[in-house]
Amino acid sequence: MRALKDLLEKNKQWATKLKASDPDFFSNLALQQNPGYLWIGCSDSRVPANQIVNLPPGEVFVHRNIANLVIHSDLNCLSVIQYAVEVLQIKHIIVCGHYGCSGIKASLDNREHGLIDNWLRHIKDIYRYHEAKINDMKTEKEKLDLLCELNVIEQVANICHTTIVQSAWKAGQELAVHGWIYGIDDGILKDLDVCITNINEISQTHRIK
Ligand code: CO
Repeated sequence: MRALKDLLEKNKQWATKLKASDPDFFSNLALQQNPGYLWIGCSDSRVPANQIVNLPPGEVFVHRNIANLVIHSDLNCLSVIQYAVEVLQIKHIIVCGHYGCSGIKASLDNREHGLIDNWLRHIKDIYRYHEAKINDMKTEKEKLDLLCELNVIEQVANICHTTIVQSAWKAGQELAVHGWIYGIDDGILKDLDVCITNINEISQTHRIK
């Protein structure tokens, strides 16, 4: 119970294999990290950031939570964004949602789930903004799929509304915020084409001059 021997063994095999193909891999990584991407994704075990874009350690700075939310008062997520943008000078932030998200589903089932209901309320709000459009969908699956997509789009906007991102743009830093969604049933990522790269692409109300 105490020692997860299997995992430690798998780790040893993995590190040995990587080192065999590139003897300096870990010693080079130990000196610095220079990731090109910040990934904000769902905690769902089926959506592992590095694996699904086939990138090795060192390439992706990652923040994951239930239903890939970026909440204005979440110091954890905001700190990750600040570090990624200001210190690591990352040029691409990717919000990656996924179809079949249990968080999205739970937000609409009208049941009590305990503490997490406070977190899921943010998703209920998104549903409320787009209620008519979502209810136009014929099946439950189509409704949930659409809400999964709209949630990603909302989080892309939330990132762009932060002072962190707007300050970076103001300083002339190149920074694009992307919205993607992942199919857990086929392993394929879809670009939702909602990429935002400057202050003129966000709503007037949220622009900080
Ligand atoms: Co999920």
